[in-house]
Amino acid sequence: MPRIGIIVGSTASASINRKVAKAMATYLPEGFEVEFLDFSALPFYNYELEAEWPAEATAWKNSIESADGIIIVTPEYSRSIPGALKNALDWSARPWGKASFNGKPTAVMGASVGASGAAMAQQHLRNILAHFNAPTMGQPETFFHFNAEVFGADGSVQDESTAAVLRGFAEAAAAFIGSHVTEPASA
Ligand SMILES: Cc1cc2nc3c(=O)[nH]c(=O)nc-3n(C[C@H](O)[C@H](O)[C@H](O)COP(=O)(O)O)c2cc1C
Repeated sequence: MPRIGIIVGSTASASINRKVAKAMATYLPEGFEVEFLDFSALPFYNYELEAEWPAEATAWKNSIESADGIIIVTPEYSRSIPGALKNALDWSARPWGKASFNGKPTAVMGASVGASGAAMAQQHLRNILAHFNAPTMGQPETFFHFNAEVFGADGSVQDESTAAVLRGFAEAAAAFIGSHVTEPASA
């Protein structure tokens, strides 16, 4: 079964992007294995750490490489992606020539408390993914303006127009990833 890895750009336990990602994941069609990929154990990248390559970085790269496609749900911090996510992407790009996102179909969305819906962060992320040679879903762009009231206590979406946005993104992302799957990624 093709596997989708979901990366949340925030490490906050109360992350609104994690909440949105979890809700979005409920709308992914059947026929995909879904796993949330965690980068919170990674050290801050510097190239000197490559001399004794950290086990956490191996685990992180394996988690990306064993997925057939990736969905990234990111907040916007200071008009870009959070530093923690950038750090994780930098680790994924190393060692030279072994970028984990190379050829990996990827879909991007983001949520913010502001009306811009993490638009600038998503655009910066698209630049990075282009550099990684990751085919990236163009549409639908999903700039999610977070409103806590549309989520129930169990995290489910209570409002049909919000559900339609998340369902539309999830179905398009699954179709995009599915269209790139020739054979499941090796575990
Ligand atoms: C350091 C910092 C910078 C932020 N910068 C932006 C920003 O540039 N644009 C924006 O829409 N929201 C910004 N916000 C507000 C975030 O949208 C809000 O904190 C949101 O909860 C972050 O998502 P998360 O809960 O998933 O981490 C910023 C928040 C923080 C903590």
